Amino acid sequence: MQALILAGGKGTRLRPLTVYTPKPIVPICNRPFLLYQIDTLRRAGITDITLSLSYQPNKIEQLLGDGSEYGVKLKYTVEPQPMGTAGAYKYAEDLIREQTVVFNGDILTDLDLKAVIREHNERKATATIVLTPVENPQDYGLVETENDGRIRRFLEKPKADEITCNTINAGTYILEPKVLDFLPAGENYSFEYGLFPDLLKRGEPFYAHIPPRTYWIDIGTPQRYLQVHADLLGGRVGRIHIKDRRGQFDAATVAEIDELSMIGDDCQIKPGAQIINSVLGPGCFVEERARVENSVIWPHTRIGTAAQVTGAIAGRGCHIGRSATVGPGSVLGDKTSLTDYTLT
Ligand code: GDD
Ligand code: MG
Repeated sequence: MQALILAGGKGTRLRPLTVYTPKPIVPICNRPFLLYQIDTLRRAGITDITLSLSYQPNKIEQLLGDGSEYGVKLKYTVEPQPMGTAGAYKYAEDLIREQTVVFNGDILTDLDLKAVIREHNERKATATIVLTPVENPQDYGLVETENDGRIRRFLEKPKADEITCNTINAGTYILEPKVLDFLPAGENYSFEYGLFPDLLKRGEPFYAHIPPRTYWIDIGTPQRYLQVHADLLGGRVGRIHIKDRRGQFDAATVAEIDELSMIGDDCQIKPGAQIINSVLGPGCFVEERARVENSVIWPHTRIGTAAQVTGAIAGRGCHIGRSATVGPGSVLGDKTSLTDYTLT
């Protein structure tokens, strides 16, 4: 049993954060995102993992290497140009000629993967998709199922008047190798628009797995990127617990750091500063009376005296000037410099 992680998308909805950092390795509570997926696979005993890359592959490969540091064996495929989700799976064909778990490379979940594999095998399915309920399925792939768990309909990015249920494709699949034979070689092809509707037409045993009480989020928009941090800090992610909320850093005794916040190594926090429900990457500098609330700050960013940062994300090496106000929804790319008193 092995795994393929689809990690080649451009991460456009997370721009400008993804200009220099591809989405699969954006930090989530100061850890590259893919490590959470690697943990999920390792928990299920799967250590043979292929990463399917296309956008900025070198950065990902340099960071994760052969995986030995994380107790897994990593291999890489790099498409000359994005081949689409199913095209990327077909492109990795030589490495995955056996039953494979496929992950979208931007979902964080505490899923019990062993239970998915067990059910897939019991049903002798050709393909199994994990489902999750969401409030608005429009951003996702809508999946209708029969009572016995068979998939009746798959509709990617449905329009408002096409929504018939609240269950969507959670971006985790178990695929039998025969699926490879249904895919065109060397072409851009999609699981969502191509293979899944095709499996239904062919009448293949194609099933949904609906896990009980499972945390699930797609981290691919700024709003959800902040949400996953709030959920992890608040301990709402079932089986995933963050460690090391406090690195080695300097803080004035008169600074206020609430118990939820996570502070990376080598940060400096000056008197009267407040850090509330936020994550600071390593090497950040928070000047006197600055306030950071419900925000995620990437490494080596400096927040000036009396600046207010609320509900925002700041990339690496930013400089937020004195008394600046960075408001909800703001996303600052790496090295952004905001003049004193800026209002966003
Ligand atoms: N290698 C490779 N090549 N990877 C790709 C490519 C490609 O051409 N295109 C997309 N990916 C990767 C992305 O990096 C991401 O990890 C994953 O495939 C899904 O792409 P997204 O662009 O994030 O898709 P989405 O979020 O709009 O929709 C998908 O995910 C939803 C769940 O989060 C669909 O699978 C939906 O059906 C699903 O509900
Ligand atoms: Mg996505």
